Amino acid sequence: MASLNTLRVDSRNSSFLGFQNLGYHRRTSDVPTRIGFQVRAETAGPGEPGEPDLGVTVNGLRLPNPFVIGSGPPGTNYTVMKRAFDEGWGAVIAKTVSLEASKVVNVTPRYARLRAGSNGSAKGQIIGWENIELISDRPLETMLSEFKRLKEEYPDRILIASIMEEYNKAAWEELIERVEETGVDAFEINFSCPHGMPERKMGAAVGQDCALLEEVCGWINAKATIPVWAKMTPNITDITQPARVALKSGCEGVAAINTIMSVMGIDLNTLRPEPCVEGYSTPGGYSSKAVHPIALGKVMNIAQMMKSEFSDGDYSLSGIGGVESGGDAAEFILLGANTVQVCTGVMMHGYGVVKKLCTELEDFMRKHNFSSIEDFRGVSLQYFTTHTDLVRRQQEAIKQRKAIRKGLQSDKDWTGDGFVKETETMVSN
Ligand SMILES: Cc1cc2nc3c(=O)[nH]c(=O)nc-3n(C[C@H](O)[C@H](O)[C@H](O)COP(=O)(O)O)c2cc1C
Repeated sequence: MASLNTLRVDSRNSSFLGFQNLGYHRRTSDVPTRIGFQVRAETAGPGEPGEPDLGVTVNGLRLPNPFVIGSGPPGTNYTVMKRAFDEGWGAVIAKTVSLEASKVVNVTPRYARLRAGSNGSAKGQIIGWENIELISDRPLETMLSEFKRLKEEYPDRILIASIMEEYNKAAWEELIERVEETGVDAFEINFSCPHGMPERKMGAAVGQDCALLEEVCGWINAKATIPVWAKMTPNITDITQPARVALKSGCEGVAAINTIMSVMGIDLNTLRPEPCVEGYSTPGGYSSKAVHPIALGKVMNIAQMMKSEFSDGDYSLSGIGGVESGGDAAEFILLGANTVQVCTGVMMHGYGVVKKLCTELEDFMRKHNFSSIEDFRGVSLQYFTTHTDLVRRQQEAIKQRKAIRKGLQSDKDWTGDGFVKETETMVSN
């Protein structure tokens, strides 16, 4: 029982979902261009002989490992992002920024947690986490100067800016231009925040409307001169639809999932929903371990769509949702993810958890004799099929098992009438 607590293809030789940068062309004139940009598969460079190499190259960006800080509290300011680099994270995606932070007003409490354990035990393991936190409420100028400082101090590390704006072309263009000037390596576009921002036609309000998404992606990709990932909302019937629109509209990658729209629970004493702010609440975003299977399902859907429609190898996939172990990450990679993001896991276990994630992923790779991430990326995708095909396979397997067992099981089974036939069933040639 869970209880409430207030305060979570065989790609080995294939280019499927892979990247190699043949040269991003930074803006050289007033007309930004990505002419000449191409991406295709690249196997990670060799590590120590016989040792697994966790390095990945995505959109020409070299990461020491596939573990990326997901946008949220773990990427809110210079101090914590620096900490992430120092602890060894493969890349950092900063907390989502917009032009006017003054419009972003947060409340407290803004988190509610679900624990596994009987009778509301406060000691049960945290399995679910709801938040009603908005995007960054820090002034854009402050965030920009911190991005710049981080890139100056860590020029070889990958810093990705998460951005969001209102339905306004000029605003998106201004935001992209100002953020790019800091030297960040890529953009992740937050088309997926399920609470607060949709009231301003932002976040999931765009990600849930394919026509709007196509238009906004068009603006973004005409302006951006660095790689763009579109972060998808799971709060939609078919996540492959917006993912397809984003890729067709020029995005180089898709990231999934953002949080799942949720109501964490009702306090049975006060009859008020959680998290409770002045007696009231609003539906929030669900994350942590409980969402991992849902995230795997969505990533599998997107990966299959990308495999069948975008298999020229120019696109990437970032898996997000409930990662706390190297095994959780391996599952996303086995479904085709190039990178794996962690947000709530860092809030619960701290930045040092990346060392455990790397060790566990290396152990998994050693066990299967995989020397690079590309060795197993997308391998499990081939084992998904339709239910109709499962039925056909099972019937065929039963038939084969029966054929193997067709000889008499015991001497008492011999009959007079069927004696010759029964003899035949036990002849090997
Ligand atoms: C408190 C909190 C704040 C978040 N803020 C953002 C945000 O500003 N931008 C964004 O794209 N995603 C945000 N997310 C979503 C996470 O990046 C991630 O997509 C989601 O939580 C699922 O991954 P996880 O289970 O590893 O947390 C936030 C998540 C949490 C828990």
